[in-house]
Order: sequence, then structure tokens, then C-alpha cells
Amino acid sequence: MKQKVEALKSEILNFKANKNDELESFRLKFISRKSVITELFADLKSVIPEKRKEMGLLLNDLKNQAQDKFNELIASLEKSNDDQSSAPIDLTLPPIQDTLGSLHPLSITKKRILEIFERIGFNVSYGPEIEDDWHNFTALNFAENHPAREMQDTFFIEKDPDIALRTHTSSVQVRVMEKQRPPIRTLSPGRVFRNEAISVRAHCIFHQVEGLYIDKNVSFADLKQTMLYFAKEFFGKDTKIRLRPSYFPFTEPSAELDISCFICGQKGCKICKNTGWVEIGGCGMVDPNVLENCKIDPEIYTGFAFGMGIERITMLKYQINDIRLFTENDIRFLRQFKSVN
Ligand code: DAH
Repeated sequence: MKQKVEALKSEILNFKANKNDELESFRLKFISRKSVITELFADLKSVIPEKRKEMGLLLNDLKNQAQDKFNELIASLEKSNDDQSSAPIDLTLPPIQDTLGSLHPLSITKKRILEIFERIGFNVSYGPEIEDDWHNFTALNFAENHPAREMQDTFFIEKDPDIALRTHTSSVQVRVMEKQRPPIRTLSPGRVFRNEAISVRAHCIFHQVEGLYIDKNVSFADLKQTMLYFAKEFFGKDTKIRLRPSYFPFTEPSAELDISCFICGQKGCKICKNTGWVEIGGCGMVDPNVLENCKIDPEIYTGFAFGMGIERITMLKYQINDIRLFTENDIRFLRQFKSVN
């Protein structure tokens, strides 16, 4: 029996438990009610009486040793579990990338335009995309059967030729003038529709921003300065503007607005077709007929209006060569505008 106790002592001493099930097998073997030690205590009966006391002391010792070892194993297992739960934080690991979205380039441009004009007192107004003939054409001085109506390839609603998808945001200026009295300083961004074949340069759905300023004594000089201010703010402080005589039914006089080509510094390039100038929109003094149509007295008030294509100026600013990119939602394209806001 003495030998057995010695063997168990060294087994207990050298026992290692790295996992909970190893701890459990230690408990079963040395601590539980059916442990080898319990069995040995039962065997004491068969030990000769002179030796019984000595053996009893030995077995008590063994029992205590087993219990101490068991406590030790529990403590060290708990500690290693704790270590494992706090250890895996590796501060040198790169952070998990949050995929932040970005503004669509057209939204960026729209936001910039609004900010620039808000600084000089313009507010923002919106109108419907499905428009009637009056707001899209007639009130804007497009005479019935006037060829200018055909300049804009209109999507009409089949059942009602009076209803169409608006071809320009100029329709919103009519709505504003019908409701508000001067002074009016407003900007109307929005989607417009034209029955055009989709190509690198043209789309049947695009965006415009319309500007309108009506007050007493508004002159062409005001229009020119406002356009110059915008061009410098949007395209850079060295930008120059040029107004070319043109025709729109709702303005008189009318002009096409060009900016100096900032891509080649007016030396001549593909974008400006070697002219040094690029067109960004139309503008003019609001035709007195339009004011009258909206019940504003042209003898008292004058005003200017302008309209720009948001796709067009975005393409110029970021040198985007295909208008279709704006609607394709290709993440590789959109991602490039992450840093701009
Ligand atoms: N509505 C015109 C278009 O879509 C753009 C435009 C030109 C708007 C001159 C204006 C303007 O307000 O004065 O082509």
C-alpha cells in the first residue's frame, strides 16, 4: 500500500490540466467519492493494526495533497481563460474598414451651386417634374406652334397633350412668380426630360438649375456680374466669362454663357475645341411677356434668369467624358468622389 501511495503522490504532483475535461478527469480519479484515495481508505481495514495508524496518516496526507493540487489546477485554468479573453487585441492590426458612402457627383455640384448662390441671397424652390403646357411653354412666351417648342424634344403624355415631362427647370420660375411678389431671388434645381437618344454627350434624363432674380432696377450688368461671381466661385478665381447673343423665348435679350477654358488656360484643347471657351448655360433678361403672364408689372419690375445643365458643368469640372457614367452606379466611378463633399 505504501508503494501505491508513493506512486499516486508523484502522479498528482506531475499532473497537468490545460483543459476543463482534463481537470474533470483529475477530479474523478483523485477527489470524487469513487476516487482511488477513497478506495485506499476502504482498504485500511485489511492493514495490520500496528501499521494502520501510520497508513492512515499517509492516506490523509495524500488526500490533502490531491485537494491542494485540484485547487491549484482550477486557479491556473481560470487564469488562462481570462488571459485568452483579453489577449487577442492586437493594436498593430489595421482597423476594419467601414465602407462609408460618398455623395453622387451630381449632388456635389448641386450642393456647391446652391451654396454659392445662397451667399448672395438666393433661396431654393422646387416644382413638379410632370408639368402642364402653360408652365413649361406658354407662360414662358413660347407661342403656339412656335418652332422653339420643337427645339426641346418633349415627352408628352399620350392621352393629354397638355401634360408633359418638363423639358427644363424654367417652368419653376413661372410657378414662383405666380405665387410670390418681387423681390424674388430663387434657384430651382431638378430633373428634366427630353426625348433624345442616349449617347456619350446626351441623355433623356438630366438635371438643370434655374436661377431667377426679379426686382426694381435689375439690369443686364447685374446678370453679368452674378454670372462672373458664380464662374469664379465654382471654376476658380481666374475664370473669365463671355456672353454670346442667343435666343430664348422667355428672355430678351438672351445670351449663351461661356467660361474661359480652365483645362488648357485658353491655349486650346479638345474640351474647348481649341476656342479657349466652353459653354455652361443660357441666360437673359426676363421677357416682359413672361412677367405679365405671371401678373408682375413689367413697368415696375425687371429681372434676369439663367439655366445650367448640372451634368454638363460636373463633366467639365471633373473632366468626365461620358454622361452615362452618372446613371450607371458603377462603384469604381462613384468612389472617386469620396474626398469631395
Ligand atoms: N431653359 C433653357 C434650356 O433648357 C435654359 C435657359 C436659358 C434658362 C436661358 C434660362 C435662360 O432661364 O434665361 O435650354
